[in-house]
Amino acid sequence: MSYQASNAEGNIKIVNLKSLEKEVKDRMEPGAFGYIRGGSEDEWTMDQNTESFNTKKIVPRVLQGIDHADLSTKLWDIDLKTPIIQAPSAAQGLSHEKGEVNTAIGMAKAGSIFSISTYANTLIKDAAAAAPDAPQFFQIYMSKDDGFNEFIIKKAVEANAKAIVLTVDSTLGGYREEDVINNFEFPLPMPNLAEYSQADGTGKGIGEIYAAAKQDFVPEDIQKIKDLSGLPVIVKGIQSPEDAEIAINAGADGIWVSNHGGRQLDGGPASFEVLPLIAQKVAKRVPVIFDSGVRRGEHVFKALASGADLVAIGRPIIYGLNLGGAQGVYDVMEHINMELSITMQLAGTKTIEDVKNTKLMD
Ligand code: FNR
Ligand code: LAC
Repeated sequence: MSYQASNAEGNIKIVNLKSLEKEVKDRMEPGAFGYIRGGSEDEWTMDQNTESFNTKKIVPRVLQGIDHADLSTKLWDIDLKTPIIQAPSAAQGLSHEKGEVNTAIGMAKAGSIFSISTYANTLIKDAAAAAPDAPQFFQIYMSKDDGFNEFIIKKAVEANAKAIVLTVDSTLGGYREEDVINNFEFPLPMPNLAEYSQADGTGKGIGEIYAAAKQDFVPEDIQKIKDLSGLPVIVKGIQSPEDAEIAINAGADGIWVSNHGGRQLDGGPASFEVLPLIAQKVAKRVPVIFDSGVRRGEHVFKALASGADLVAIGRPIIYGLNLGGAQGVYDVMEHINMELSITMQLAGTKTIEDVKNTKLMD
């Protein structure tokens, strides 16, 4: 039987981002849901990603003359209505029949950035055409086959991508037990792979997909992608200051601090735990994007106050897509922006720069 994705389109009622997971669990095919929700092994790191935000506190401030928060910010010359962007996630056709097209529309409406994955269920050009005036990044999983790397970068450049996100933390898949239990295999084609070769990912698990990708990354790969694309390259999956330094010295134009939402190395630190030292090492030489475990506006605030310039969310966007299509994606962004606005005002910070200059309490 062919895979049945959601075709919901419309506003969704959101109490909080965490509650979306249960709603989606009740309406999505178990294998697909397990793939999206799942982390690796004991999911300890995945759980720590969210828990770790409680290790730092935001001191309320008063008498600051603030009647509303201004969430606007910039990345390079890209104006953004919010410091919150979408983290690239594969196979969004599992969540909604329009997949990445709807996510692109929702993120454009939110005045934010959409990043399309190499393993999307939508062609790069189709996601770009869905929101032609909005900034989009292309996230590349490099292949062993340089012909593919050149082919897909060309497609991203033709689609007017504003940056390339080079993901380097997935040279093989973390051991994801839900996928093992469900024997999960992707039921839908990945057209960006199919356009280059017949292998479109259908019927494969993420481990097999990763196995066909490049494993032996070296710093020189950063310059290679820069040369191929002529675009800024943001290196995603950095969890140590040493690797941030290596990446910047090799030409990285941005550092994306992430542990892949706890889907890769279980037993590692929460991504929020390593952010301050990485940001200190980067020392504002390039922008820092942060993700993994962000579910509250106060989490966004704490990441910005700990050195991030932008904060990305993954799973909640996919859940909003499932529940409400493009409007659902937008509603998720509006909800977490609302929580961030409240946090900013009660912390006595009017602008994102004020937040970045806030000292958290241990
Ligand atoms: C991801 N992530 C991911 N990252 C990437 O660089 N390319 C990809 O194709 C994917 N695919 C993907 C699929 C699914 C279902 C998930 C949940 C995640 C990782 C993603 O970009 C991000 O790092 C994490 O999702 C952030 O953690 P949260 O917000 O989901 O907790
Ligand atoms: C994942 C890959 C696709 O986490 O990044 O499933």
